Amino acid sequence: MKRSQFIKMVGAGTVACACGQLVSCSSKGNDPTPSNIDFTLDLTQPANAALTSNGGSVVQQGIIIVRVSAGNFVAYLRACTHEGTGVNFQPSSNSFVCPNHGATFDISGNVTKGPATRALTRYNTSLSGTSLRVFS
Ligand code: FES
Repeated sequence: MKRSQFIKMVGAGTVACACGQLVSCSSKGNDPTPSNIDFTLDLTQPANAALTSNGGSVVQQGIIIVRVSAGNFVAYLRACTHEGTGVNFQPSSNSFVCPNHGATFDISGNVTKGPATRALTRYNTSLSGTSLRVFS
């Protein structure tokens, strides 16, 4: 094998390896679970008006926040644990429903119907006056 042929072959392999690493890094970067979540919703703002009624929900920063009862809220990563579609809250059944393949989750985030098998990722909430803090 000539030196130039060897270099071309090794070069192609290096590119293939680099691509493999890029794909690997990219897939890690697509992890939809946000970390270091910490934001506050002003419940007096029109955008958050749904949270002044029981069963109301708001989506902020990929997190769905639901008012369960007066002073009692839950917050979950909206991404379905099956394939990541955003779940919606249905007050009539007090559950989260994924519009993609029909998985459902109870108000505690637990799976009540597949194909999802893992609970929704939960975040903490803390109400102070009309300020609702959502944090990890
Ligand atoms: S993405 Fe939600 S059930 Fe498939």
